Amino acid sequence: MGVYVGKDKQRLEMFQTVEKELKYARFIHTMGVAFTATSLAERYGADMRKAETAGLLHDCAKYVPVERMERLCEKGGIEITSFERGNPALLHSKAGVVLARTQYGVNDPEILDAICCHTTGRPGMTLLDKILFIADYIEPGRDQATDLDKVRALAFEDIDRCLMKILEDSLNYLATTGREIDPMTQKTYDYYKARQDNR
Ligand SMILES: [Fe+2]
Ligand SMILES: [Fe+2]
Repeated sequence: MGVYVGKDKQRLEMFQTVEKELKYARFIHTMGVAFTATSLAERYGADMRKAETAGLLHDCAKYVPVERMERLCEKGGIEITSFERGNPALLHSKAGVVLARTQYGVNDPEILDAICCHTTGRPGMTLLDKILFIADYIEPGRDQATDLDKVRALAFEDIDRCLMKILEDSLNYLATTGREIDPMTQKTYDYYKARQDNR
């Protein structure tokens, strides 16, 4: 896809607004995701600018109060699942889609879809979905997940195997904490597992 020149006003303003809206540690995480997503896009021939924008905005609703997130989703015509109602922290992905549209003027469906599924994945993920999902997991500031070195290497070797490993590790981790698992994460895992077995 090649290198892009990204010194335009819209891009710079987006960085500024995100910095203002997020707590500083979340802003640093966001920079890490935007950078990692851009690198992965370069590696796999995806649109680097879209990857950067998705990374930059993926957590833009992280500090929006729950009631406002719910209202944003309702206004934006995005359905909230019963699991999300019980676990409002998960709502930031969908509310982020509406903010990306309304506050940041991003209407590209590929970018919005990637933001929408960045926490759980979804069956039939696009290349950009996978790039954002993986970048969120491996950005340089992350240090908690098991096998991070392996996952980081795999991300640049085989994106589908990397996705599978992250889904597997996330489900295993959630099982050990006894926390409820978002049915969408399980569904995504089952979808890719079935495809892997049929290879
Ligand atoms: Fe997030
Ligand atoms: Fe994130």
